[in-house]
Amino acid sequence: MTGVELVEKVFAEHTVVGDPGFGNRPRLEAVAEYCAQTWPGDLVEIGLGHGNTTRIFAEIARAHDRRVVAVDPFDVMGTAWGDDYFETFLKNTEPWRDAIDLLKASSLDPETIHVIGERELCFAYVDGLHTYEACYSDILTVSHCAGIIAVDDVHVEYSYAEPIRRAFYDGAIHLNRIPMDTSLSREGYLIPGDQ
Ligand SMILES: C[S@@+](CC[C@H](N)C(=O)[O-])C[C@H]1O[C@@H](n2cnc3c(N)ncnc32)[C@H](O)[C@@H]1O
Repeated sequence: MTGVELVEKVFAEHTVVGDPGFGNRPRLEAVAEYCAQTWPGDLVEIGLGHGNTTRIFAEIARAHDRRVVAVDPFDVMGTAWGDDYFETFLKNTEPWRDAIDLLKASSLDPETIHVIGERELCFAYVDGLHTYEACYSDILTVSHCAGIIAVDDVHVEYSYAEPIRRAFYDGAIHLNRIPMDTSLSREGYLIPGDQ
């Protein structure tokens, strides 16, 4: 099965009509699992929040003897996550700590970009700072990923969705990847051009 066929199947099987919100997790899980089975390298997640997606990726990483490179400065205050969200992240991901390489830093920091660039990657999930510039930068940072790059919030009813969507499509053109998204799913996928 190609990456395009896999994502078509995932959208068909795991989309809940009327719930463009958290329905993303079964889809991300299926895509990350496919990537770990298909390509060598680690998984990277930019933007971790409470770690609810990190633990899904860490379970896959552990099963395939890979690691999750997990990137977040945990310094965004005054949001719904709560000001102590780093502690919540640590608690939620504690059972998978052996499979996670935590970079407590901004993905826009040149040193972070360098560290990610050195890692062989099979899957990437971009869900960090929600501006056009940051999202586009994050997509470029994981551009060497051999497998699929997932980008969250391409379709949500918030003002930041439009710049994220532009970064997603511009990234597809720049990286010669196939963009796959539907208005019923919040995240989109950038598939390698030969897939
Ligand atoms: C929507 S949350 C991520 C949620 C998580 N991926 C999930 O699906 O459960 C966005 C995260 O991006 C992080 N973030 C903000 N600026 C960032 C930056 N420059 N680099 C990396 N992460 C950043 C925030 O701290 C926050 O934890």
